This record gives sequence, C-alpha cells and structure tokens, in this order.
Amino acid sequence: MQNESITTRVNELLKSANLDIAGADNAFYVRMISGCEEMHHLYDSIYKHHTYRDESFDNLAQSIIRAYSTRKDSLKARDSRKAGDIPWFLDNKITGMSLYVDRFAGNLKKLESKLDYFEELGVNFLHLMPVMQSPPDESDGGYAVSDFRTVDKRFGTTADLENLQAAMLERNMYLMLDIVLNHTSDRHEWAVKAKNGDARYMEYYYMYDDRTIPDQFEQSMPEIFPHSSPGNFTWSEACNKWVMTVFNYYQWDLNFTNPRVFVEMLDNIFFYANLGVDILRIDAPAFIWKKTGTTCQNLPEAHTLLQLIKKCVSLATPGMAILGEAIVAPKEIMRYFGTGEYSGKECDVAYNATHMALQWDALATGDSTVMIKSQHDLLQKPFGTTWITYTRCHDDIGLGYEDEAILEAGYSPYEHRRFMKNYYSGQYQGSTAKGALFAVNPKTQDARISGSLASLCGLEFGLEWQDESVIEQSIRKITMMQAHSMFLGGIPMLFYGDELGYCNDYSFMQDPAKSYDNRWMHRPVMDWIRNKRRTKEGTIENRIFTATQKLIQLRKSLSMVADHKNLTWIHTFNKHAAIYLRELNGQKLYCVFNFTKDQTSITWYAFKQNGPFGPEIYDHWTGSSFQIGSDYEHLMIEPYGFHLFGEL
Ligand code: GLC
Repeated sequence: MQNESITTRVNELLKSANLDIAGADNAFYVRMISGCEEMHHLYDSIYKHHTYRDESFDNLAQSIIRAYSTRKDSLKARDSRKAGDIPWFLDNKITGMSLYVDRFAGNLKKLESKLDYFEELGVNFLHLMPVMQSPPDESDGGYAVSDFRTVDKRFGTTADLENLQAAMLERNMYLMLDIVLNHTSDRHEWAVKAKNGDARYMEYYYMYDDRTIPDQFEQSMPEIFPHSSPGNFTWSEACNKWVMTVFNYYQWDLNFTNPRVFVEMLDNIFFYANLGVDILRIDAPAFIWKKTGTTCQNLPEAHTLLQLIKKCVSLATPGMAILGEAIVAPKEIMRYFGTGEYSGKECDVAYNATHMALQWDALATGDSTVMIKSQHDLLQKPFGTTWITYTRCHDDIGLGYEDEAILEAGYSPYEHRRFMKNYYSGQYQGSTAKGALFAVNPKTQDARISGSLASLCGLEFGLEWQDESVIEQSIRKITMMQAHSMFLGGIPMLFYGDELGYCNDYSFMQDPAKSYDNRWMHRPVMDWIRNKRRTKEGTIENRIFTATQKLIQLRKSLSMVADHKNLTWIHTFNKHAAIYLRELNGQKLYCVFNFTKDQTSITWYAFKQNGPFGPEIYDHWTGSSFQIGSDYEHLMIEPYGFHLFGEL
C-alpha cells in the first residue's frame, strides 16, 4: 500500500467505526490520521514481504480502533491528565512494589484489603507478578501463560482484578502488569492447536521436523536455564516436532515473523491497557526476534517491533507507559529507549539491572570503582524516559556488567566474578551473605545469584548465629542499599518482604513444581502475624520497615530526585565511598554512601567540585546539620552509612 492509500484505508476504517470524529473522538481521529503512516512504515519494515501483510495491517488498525472505542471514559480522562510536556512517570512521588498476589495476600480480593498497608509504607504503584492463567505445575511463576485474558482462579477472577484496579485508582495508585510477549505455555490454546496439526497455529511457533535448523540456531544461541532446561529446543511427542523453547521446555517461543502473531499480541496488550494498566511490563522483549547465526537477542527487528508497539499504544491508549524488561548487557539495555530518530520513542521505562548488580558488586568488594566506571553508558538515557531502580526483584542477580569496568578497577573479570559468586553464595570466608548460585552453566561456569535482600546482606546469618553485631550490620547494609537505589533516579521498585527483612525461604525445595528453580528462595509467603511486629519498636521488622518508610517519604519530599536526567557522579577521592548529586532548579542533593564495614572519610572538597554548596548543609536522613569544612578536613561516614545532604 502507498502512503496515500494507507491514510485512505485507515480513514475508511475510522469512519466505519461509529466514532464522533468531529467531537469527543476528534483527538483520537487526528492521532490516527497523522500517525498511521509512521505506524505503517514500522510495520512494513518487518512485514512488507509477508503474505499476510495487508490482511494483518487491517487487523492491526482495527485493533487500535477497537481498543480506543472500548476504553472506559475514566481511563480516557486519566490519559488526558497524564498527558503533558513532562512524562508523568518521571515523578519523584511514585514508589513501587512488586509482589506475587497469592504469596503476598492470598488472592486479589485480599490484596485489596492490603491497600492500607501500602499507604502506610508509602507505596503507590503495584507490580502484580503474572496473574493470568498458567498451569500450576509448569508456570515459571506465571510467565508460562495459557490464557492471556483470564485471571487464574488461584488469584480470583478478572472482576476481582478490575475491582482492585478501581480501588487503587480511587487512592491514586498506579498498576503494572506483565505481557509475556516472547512465549506462551505449551498448554495455551494456540500451542494445543499447533500440536494437533492446525496449520494456522503451527505458524505461531518455531516448529521443525528434524534437528537441521535447531542445530544451526544452537551454534550461536546462549542458554538461559542451562541447569533445568538446557538447549533452546524441545522435542514435542504430541506432534513429533522440535519446538523452540528458549526459557523452560514448557514455554514455547512465539514466531513474530508472522504478522498474525504480532497483531494477536498487540490485541492482548490493549486488553491489559483497558484493564487500567499504567505501566505495561513487556517480559523478555530482547528475545522476540530470532535469526540463525546470531544470539537471537537484541536484534534490530525486536527494537522495530517495540517501536511499533509503542506507536500503536500511543495512538489508542496513550496513558499506558511501556517498560521493556531487557536484562542484557549495559550497552544493549540503553537501546531499548530507542536509537536514532526513535530515541525516546521505544520503551518509556527499563530496569536499571546494570546498576542493581553493580551495587551488589560494591557491597561485596567494599570498593565502588567498578560501579562508578560503569556509569558512562547509563547516563546516556534519553530525557523523558526512566529507569526502574531496585535492589532485588523476583529474579536472580546477573553479573553481566562490562569487563572493561572490572579491568579499569584493577581486577581480572573472571576472578572478580568468581569472587562475587563465592561471596554471595556464602562460600567466601568471612562473608555473611547467604544466597545461592542460579543457572550455573557447567560448560562456561557462568552463574547468577539468588537470595533475598536480607539474606544477601547477612541478616539470615546473624539470626542463625544470634550474632547481634552481624544483625546490626545487616540492617545498615539493607538500608544503605535501598537508599542508594531509591535516590538514583527512576521509579524505585521494592520487592515485597524486603521492607520487613524477610530472609530466604527454603520450602520451595519440597515442591516439585519449584524445586528446580532456586529463585523461589527469595519469593516468600507473607506472614501477616509476623508483619505486625513492624509496629513494635525495636524489632527487626520495625527497624527495616520504618527506615524504608522514611526513605520513601523523603524521596517524595525532594523534587530534585525526580528523573530529569539530573544525575552527576562525584569524584570521592575514596574508593570505598560513592557520591552522586541530584540537582534541579538550583537545588542540590548530595547522596553519600559508605560501602564498607569500617568508618570512612571524605574530603569536604568533594562537595565543592560542582559549584558552591553550603556552607551549612542538612542531612535529610539523620536530621542533623554539618558545616562544610576546609579542603583538608574530612567528613566521617559510619560503616555502611549514608547521608542525603541538602543546603540549609
Ligand atoms: C523474565 C522474568 C522471569 C522469567 C522469564 C521468562 O525474565 O522476569 O522470571 O523466568 O522472563 O518468561
């Protein structure tokens, strides 16, 4: 189709859609007419030569129109409120928590009764781990979806989810859900039809009669779960085919070279948008395009498809932001914000997985050099996009930061990573961390790290040995790590249980549906009797909860913490410490961290390098004020201590 005929075609579709083009729906109409060429251009750069090209483009346009037409007025009003020069999600007043509905509260209804708890803590944004239907025995924590549009009965009903969303909206809370884009469960209706030889649905997956093509793919594809699901293909007895399964053997990769797959998944995206999702977490987008001879990750076509998704969403449901869950090398992560003419026009949000891992690096080594040397790429994030900042989530900690940064810090990358693995899996003498290695690849010795924030910081060890000083130290580490990630810029995302110091839960080992995956050790079941201890002064729960609460409150009160690309790393002249400056409209906040078990000192000169500051400064964390000393005087920072310095 030529550009002119695209606009004509889209116009025809719009006109037959019973819209009030000159009135209430005019803004949408204008968006569609002015945006359809770009949308088509993106679409065609992938699907131009496909047999289903025209049919699928029509369906895509229809899907957008349907999504807009069926969007509730309340959501359309929220879209308008969110629109503005400065994207709503850059705000410093948003703090999130990621949780499993069943493990946190039991089900969706009960979760609704916990909204006061979030308010008490200061959390106003919830990421519900996957709630759509998924086979209980082979679910990958819900990431093997067997029905994208029906809430799994374990969690309740779709109506419960809608009620929860409405209740959250009343409290001005935000909601994040996942779309698992890369794969379905092998028990999804499409997979079942494919197994039964239905030609339409066989084209939805990558299926092969013999190993010829799978072997070609395997030559350059890494393994994601080498311990539990080695290789990237699984033999399906049901249809006598090799099926591509990059993650677990029961997660069948969708074939996005087929435009029908894209349109079906876009329609699912709109289904979530119209449930009232504020940020859509696109699970594993790095993997959605495959090509032999490549790693099948981060390919240009995957980015084009994300740009197309972003474009379609901005036309139909513009208030929903897109988060790309790309846990890949730092340089690659940056590309998910868009490059070239699409800079800032791909994903609105991405996980700062690099920095998350770097914080753990600094904590283990007591040396912030690798972390600081790695910042250059991360600072290139386009204005108008933001990070999810976090210390822990439901997944493992990967040590995928750049070798160059490790080398520049004077370490050998191999030995350094070996140290990190030993340190956090408790095999390093003197380490109080209690984690475990995850996804150990016997061929390469690569591994990632599982474990809860508290256990990795030594709380489990301290409790086991009833060692007060280790317990004390672990609480300091937990608080410092949280503070470091919460003021960095981006939306802080807490992981449930961490606000109360939950240690690892080893009961997963008794459950055959989980025992092969030790990430379950850091996905606790909340004990609400125990959680009451948060109000009893002096308990561990109370100390961690109130510290987290205070950090959230402070964050909300300090406008320079909003993500305006206003982060500067300060030279500390001391490798044990790290300082970053957040500055907005002339207001400065110096965030200062000590990553070691000993007191450390920082020359006051460090605070003068970026223009005048002081002479009297106020620590928002401790509530005390300091006089900035002369260049040869020092600020002493407590072991694992931190300060949040603003001007008085
Ligand atoms: C994402 C999820 C992870 C899951 C994987 C496969 O990385 O965070 O938990 O195993 O995707 O869906």
